[in-house]
Amino acid sequence: MAKLTHKSWAEPYKMKMVELLKMTTRPQRAKSLKNAGYNTFLLQSDDVYIDLLTDSGTNSMSDRQWSAFMTGDEAYAGSKSYYNFENAIKKYYGYKYVIPTHQGRGAENILSQILIKKGDIVPGNMYFTTTRLHQELAGGRFVDIIIDEAHDPTNTFEFKGNVDITKLDKLVKKYGASKIPYVCIATTVNMAGGQPISIQNLKELRTYTNKHGIKIILDMTRVAENAYFIQQREKGYRDKKIKDIVFEICSLTDGATMSAKKDALVNIGGFLAINDWDVFEEARNLVVVYEGLHTYGGLAGRDMEAIAVGIKESVNDYHQRARVGQVEYLGEKMSKYGIPIVKPIGGHGIFVDAKEFLPQLTQDEFPAQTLAAEIYLESGVRTMERGVVSAGRKPNGENYYPKLELVRFTIPRRVYTQAHMDVVAESVAMVYDRRKKIKGLKMVYEPKYLRFFQATFEKLK
Ligand code: F0G
Repeated sequence: MAKLTHKSWAEPYKMKMVELLKMTTRPQRAKSLKNAGYNTFLLQSDDVYIDLLTDSGTNSMSDRQWSAFMTGDEAYAGSKSYYNFENAIKKYYGYKYVIPTHQGRGAENILSQILIKKGDIVPGNMYFTTTRLHQELAGGRFVDIIIDEAHDPTNTFEFKGNVDITKLDKLVKKYGASKIPYVCIATTVNMAGGQPISIQNLKELRTYTNKHGIKIILDMTRVAENAYFIQQREKGYRDKKIKDIVFEICSLTDGATMSAKKDALVNIGGFLAINDWDVFEEARNLVVVYEGLHTYGGLAGRDMEAIAVGIKESVNDYHQRARVGQVEYLGEKMSKYGIPIVKPIGGHGIFVDAKEFLPQLTQDEFPAQTLAAEIYLESGVRTMERGVVSAGRKPNGENYYPKLELVRFTIPRRVYTQAHMDVVAESVAMVYDRRKKIKGLKMVYEPKYLRFFQATFEKLK
């Protein structure tokens, strides 16, 4: 990292516009929660004070991004904004070919349809909800090959996003490399608590997959946050710039899907990037079926301009230090109150261990869903469940029972202040004080796909 001018993680920006928030009372929140079926996704955002539901599409754009936004070229075909977008992706990530999509899952859909055949196995460093669903809809089966440490919220290993190559080797021996179209690698691993993968592990994986002719596809949604952890923790990377580390990560893979709504500091957008011409050609054809022409893919020209600038800002060392610094600030504050959180603190949020917080509840009583509801009731802070509800059901209909039963406090980039983080920690501490009296929930409506978004619940008596 370049020599920094200050010791704290203070923000490398100041505010130019603010968004006013509505304050609510506890009876109002109790009513809103009941109407939302105890699912924080079904609350109206107007009833939320501090919104930590997600870091996806909730970022503040910079003055430079807003300026670029105004220059968007809305031509249906061959928009100049597309070329700015494409050039930024090539420059900062190094991939050869780019397909814009409306968001990350648009890219996952297209890639899965092209690369996965019925009966294929897709190993990955822990599942992500939409990614795994697209793999399954394309006829594949996701297999988790993350290291065991990732499933233990108390294990403080610094690279809990790493792949266990012996787990991959077992799959190759059992099914044959031809049944494994690619290994899907996330930076940082969302469901594990925002945990990074190391460059060393990625290099070992590259050597292994090269030997067996297997591709690596990066889920690069939070790649710059992962690069920050590599810079801080990995031997030999302390003096490297995040920009160069991001480039190196991408260079070890064959292609990527990206939700630009996270790292790239915008409110909507994504892309598929790939080095293989044949895959690109097919993707360029499929994108017109699902998203839009290959020079806009469901995005407005102005969105592509904002992404191009956002990518550049995301690889700035000061930006990432303030971003992850704020997450660490909240985590340390919660730890001081004795609240059980996933350690080490991850890149995009704090993950509270709901099994530990509410040991009186079984996983069928939805501890994380319950805790997210109680936190909203306490203070108007909105979080989300990342446990048995998010995990959903296997293709055969059985529930997945993930080891991790977490409530995620996801911090939007450049949005909230340190004082907001204090309020969040205080409200969780208040719920912690009354934790023994908390009862669980029962699911009363369950949609077929990605149930956590729309399921509704009732309180157990
Ligand atoms: N991959 C990861 C690791 C993600 O976190 C997300 C989205 C996606 C892919 C899909 O991207 O939403 O643009 O279609 N995560 C959001 C979240 C929804 O709240 O974690 P998308």
